[in-house]
Amino acid sequence: MNLIFSLELSKLQDLSQVVNLMKPFLKPRTLILLDGELGAGKTTLTRELLKSCGYDHATSPTYALHHHYDLTLDSENLNVEHLDLYRLENEDQIESSGFWDLFQSRPQSLILVEWADRVSIDQWPLDWKRYRIKITKNEIDRTYQFYNF
Ligand SMILES: Nc1ncnc2c1ncn2[C@@H]1O[C@H](COP(=O)(O)OP(=O)(O)OP(=O)(O)O)[C@@H](O)[C@H]1O
Ligand SMILES: [Mg+2]
Repeated sequence: MNLIFSLELSKLQDLSQVVNLMKPFLKPRTLILLDGELGAGKTTLTRELLKSCGYDHATSPTYALHHHYDLTLDSENLNVEHLDLYRLENEDQIESSGFWDLFQSRPQSLILVEWADRVSIDQWPLDWKRYRIKITKNEIDRTYQFYNF
């Protein structure tokens, strides 16, 4: 795992800095795992990323499991899949949910996955660009660490 950037933020308004650093990586056939404890800010970051692609109404997929968006970034079409594995307890449940089919059915999407640590790291497809953002929260601020793997 290689660290691409690490940023510490104390204000929600500064989240655009993280988005700007991530923007060059928002491409087709790209997987971004969003890791962090309950309430760390995974959905909030996703919402900001989608906003930067012109979409202003993103909600958490905790219950729906999967939200799909057809967006445009820098005049290129970008399909985004936003998933939340929180309600799936183990790899068997993830398997039977049809989650893995997504990589075949949406081979050109940007896939963003909350609670990605439900899946062990060696399970993720190797023929995608693969990144992980780890959000760590304390009383004062949040740290965003972005890796490729
Ligand atoms: N960088 C930030 N600075 C301040 N507050 C933030 C920041 N990011 C998120 N929050 C706040 O933290 C709360 C939880 O955020 P969010 O729902 O995005 O977390 P989550 O990681 O998706 O949670 P869950 O584990 O339930 O999916 C929200 O009230 C949000 O406004
Ligand atoms: Mg969430």
